[in-house]
Amino acid sequence: MSFSNQFFANPVRLLAPMEGLTDPLMRQILTQIATDLGRPYDWSVSEFIRVTQHVLPAHVFYRYVPELHHDAKTASGTPIHIQLLGSEAQLMAENAAYACELGAPAIDINFGCPAKTVNSHRGGSVLLDEPEVMYDIISAVRQAVPTDIPVSAKIRLGYTDTSRMDDIRGAITDSGADWLTIHARTKTQGYKPPAYWDKIQSFNTLDIPVIANGEIWNAEHAQNCMAQAGTTHLMLGRGAVTRPDLIAQVDKSHNQIHQNYQNSENKTTLCWEDLIAHQIKFLEGKAKTDVVLVGRYKQWLGMLTKGYCEAQILWDSIKREKNKAVIIQALQTSAK
Ligand SMILES: Cc1cc2nc3c(=O)[nH]c(=O)nc-3n(C[C@H](O)[C@H](O)[C@H](O)COP(=O)(O)O)c2cc1C
Repeated sequence: MSFSNQFFANPVRLLAPMEGLTDPLMRQILTQIATDLGRPYDWSVSEFIRVTQHVLPAHVFYRYVPELHHDAKTASGTPIHIQLLGSEAQLMAENAAYACELGAPAIDINFGCPAKTVNSHRGGSVLLDEPEVMYDIISAVRQAVPTDIPVSAKIRLGYTDTSRMDDIRGAITDSGADWLTIHARTKTQGYKPPAYWDKIQSFNTLDIPVIANGEIWNAEHAQNCMAQAGTTHLMLGRGAVTRPDLIAQVDKSHNQIHQNYQNSENKTTLCWEDLIAHQIKFLEGKAKTDVVLVGRYKQWLGMLTKGYCEAQILWDSIKREKNKAVIIQALQTSAK
């Protein structure tokens, strides 16, 4: 089944899966902001769920993707696709089928994770050196899940270098993947700029949609990425956490703010004052403990300092603060 018309009728904008960063709470906040600004994300992908020895119990899927309790959508209505990471084709297939039973609207397979522990167990980006295993996994998953549920893959350009790109492309074509997201760097290149958007071009010979990802921090980067990669489909990662209005900025310059989505004030920028309420919501969100929540908030605030000068001032004043209530108070005063 081709999902091109259903999912890719217009250029898609996706919020990237980022373990420990775009968790359910952050997804809730960022998808809400995008929706309020008139350009909702088309979907987001969950943090990777690692498949090692058995079919994971339901509670694990619900923990990673509590949105499954709500039609697999965030409160603002953004669908969440489930990402699996593993190397055993049959086990991946069984887990994917179960995720679909629990309500996953699509399955994404991770071939990009650079973590040592994951790679040493033959998961994530290390499989880019074994395109035949990639083929086995994707085709097993494709066969195991209902035909109306898409199966996609997320890759990097290679493991240590780009020499296997032709084989990777072949594996993706033959496996029946419904679309492909490419983080335009090798595993060895980590997360350091630049991203090699032009290398994505060669994947456009595939007859499935290709989504470009990596190092998009502003609208100009997005334009350059689309031009160099030869695709209009983008996944936004750290840039979307640093500037939660990035998606609206990108589509303002790409004339993609849909009439139906336009908010009453036609705002595409989220000023610091408006971001404060979202930060407070984050701090009032669910986490194991307040210590965890405050730690996670500081991680976000640290990233926001790259996008908002006000964030730097707040950071300087609360960086040693552990009390959530005090931080909320500081946030409220930072509006004035
Ligand atoms: C903290 C962090 C965690 C990540 N976790 C995942 C993950 O779980 N699954 C995945 O496919 N990619 C993961 N990624 C990669 C991102 O989805 C994205 O490909 C990468 O950050 C490049 O995009 P960017 O330069 O816009 O951030 C992660 C990246 C970061 C920074």
